[in-house]
Amino acid sequence: MSKAVDELYERRTACGRLSKKDISSETLVIAGWVFRYRDQGGVIFIDLRERSGILQVVFDKAEGEKLLQDADALRAEDVIIVEGTLRARAEDAVNPKLPTGEVELLAKNLIVLNKAKPSPVTLDEHEDEASEEIRLKYRYLDLRRAPMQKALEKKHLFIKSIRNFLDNKEFWEVETPILNKSTPEGARDFLVPSRLNAGDFYALPQSPQIFKQILMISQVEKYYQIARCFRDEDLRKDRQPEFTQIDLEMSYISAEMLMRLMEDMIKTSLNDVFSVQLSENIPRISYHEAVETYGTDRPDTRFEMPLTELGEWAKTTEFQVFLKVSESGGRVKALRVPGGAALSRKEIDDLTKWVSQDYKAKGLAWIKYGEEGLESVVTKFLPEDSQKKLIELTKAEKGDIIFFAADTSDVVFATLGALRLKMGERFNLIDANKWSALWIVDFPLFELDKETQNLSSLHHPFTTVVEEDLEKLLELGKKETLSKEDKEAALKIRSNAYDMVLNGVEIGGGSIRIHKEKAQKAVFNLLNIKDEEAQMKFGFLLEALKYGAPPHGGIAFGVDRLLMIALGFSSIRDVIAFPKTQKGQCMMSLAPSSVDIKQLKELQLRSLVAKK
Ligand code: AMO
Ligand code: AMP
Repeated sequence: MSKAVDELYERRTACGRLSKKDISSETLVIAGWVFRYRDQGGVIFIDLRERSGILQVVFDKAEGEKLLQDADALRAEDVIIVEGTLRARAEDAVNPKLPTGEVELLAKNLIVLNKAKPSPVTLDEHEDEASEEIRLKYRYLDLRRAPMQKALEKKHLFIKSIRNFLDNKEFWEVETPILNKSTPEGARDFLVPSRLNAGDFYALPQSPQIFKQILMISQVEKYYQIARCFRDEDLRKDRQPEFTQIDLEMSYISAEMLMRLMEDMIKTSLNDVFSVQLSENIPRISYHEAVETYGTDRPDTRFEMPLTELGEWAKTTEFQVFLKVSESGGRVKALRVPGGAALSRKEIDDLTKWVSQDYKAKGLAWIKYGEEGLESVVTKFLPEDSQKKLIELTKAEKGDIIFFAADTSDVVFATLGALRLKMGERFNLIDANKWSALWIVDFPLFELDKETQNLSSLHHPFTTVVEEDLEKLLELGKKETLSKEDKEAALKIRSNAYDMVLNGVEIGGGSIRIHKEKAQKAVFNLLNIKDEEAQMKFGFLLEALKYGAPPHGGIAFGVDRLLMIALGFSSIRDVIAFPKTQKGQCMMSLAPSSVDIKQLKELQLRSLVAKK
């Protein structure tokens, strides 16, 4: 472009911030995209849009025939720069919906910086959104839309606010490597082949976990990082293969201190950026209580509707399903849905199909509490006393429905936990303007892998145990092989870990770590990670623990999940500039893609997949 245009750039102002107080006889320069266009014969109105907002520009024949002709040739999304004078709009032309609605720019000079093809993505918020596939393919256009611009800006402001908070507390931001050895967070690694060490692979970090612990041993004391993490797992609405964590670690810290500090950080930043007020003290409940009460360890506590324990009660019935399950050590629980008697037979049948397909429930017995008492196919199996007791235990009232799940604990919790959420939505019990955060604490250290029957970490293998359970850990950790009883005892060991849940989404999790080699070895042993394997995978950490590792702990928050909730989006994709689809693809660049045979040769690799 010419020098004249360069000079216009120098004078450019943000059009979305202009108001009556900027009116003067001096000319102003604005630049951006042609958004809306109206031709009123002799006068053309254009809404010019850029990052700061929208301003109406008027092209009037009185300012010259050529100017009007040039304006007439403009099409949506052309990029223009306009010089003109700001003036007040006539009273009846004021647009109260627009921040700049009281003023307009009378154009004196127009330069078209670039022409645009018609946009395949609808940019006007008053029209229907394009399909997600089109939006992701033309992401650069989609990101011009107001809600997307807001998401980008808010994410920037949120991270800035977090940085500010942590900087005030004397944290240092330290980068950790992306080309790594594998870090175990329970997902599959993304691997990167090494050219200089043919046959070897780096793993992209699932989190900076081991490095941040090492930094504590390196005298950093308070570390944080806005860290990109990579996990090759099945994707859902709140999961991406690469995502961002606010990752931090501190030395000489108790779980109590860390939780208090993190409450302060999350509350401050949510309030700064979204004017959200979380409750004064974020409640804490144990993992056990969360699962028993809500069927999940990430309950949405914006509404009540707790599950009812019916293990003992089941034995007072004559219903074979309940009796068998309770005899065989399974669980019987119920969900009372206030007002749920309004559900139609079809709705109940659909729910039954859904829980059997998605949660492996063998059925979904139900009882409506109608005017005439309890109504259901199962009431005939309930003696009168049982019926009374059921009403008492579930606190049922007329107009309610009670759903039952009888099965293994996993199936019962998954079924009723999901049903609780669905019923919360069906009966409009979830207030979209409410914010409900809580801490989940006292997690078990281990869970049982269903396939292998081995112990696996619920959090990750560096998490320490509550003090009372340390001796048990060390004792079990010495055993060569684990008996059934040993495994049962190990499953009772509680970890010193904590998760923060916001509106039913796990937004963060962390723990106090093991800082002594002996305890770390015990955990590896219980996880069936043999000495040799532990040396190969985590030898550097085990070695580092020998050189005066201070006690330490930390946490990581999922920034994208937090933003998704704060902005009211239902998918994490909406708060990531260039997200991946369910199949892990970027619709815009079409990654992942095949590579040149030459590249593979350099890496000494050969693909086993036949090319289409
Ligand atoms: P964890 O695995 O619980 O802990 O992760 C911490 C938080 O990161 C977010 N998160 C995700 N967000 C989007 N897509 C994903 N695939 C995804 N996976 C996790 C969640 C989660 O709460 N190193 C430990 C932290 C620690 O112990 O300090 C860790 O990564 O919001
Ligand atoms: P049935 O006796 O199989 O006809 O089932 C009677 C009712 O109990 C139906 O509503 C089933 O959906 C329900 N049901 C069957 N098995 C279970 C189970 N394991 N848990 C809860 N409800 C069940």
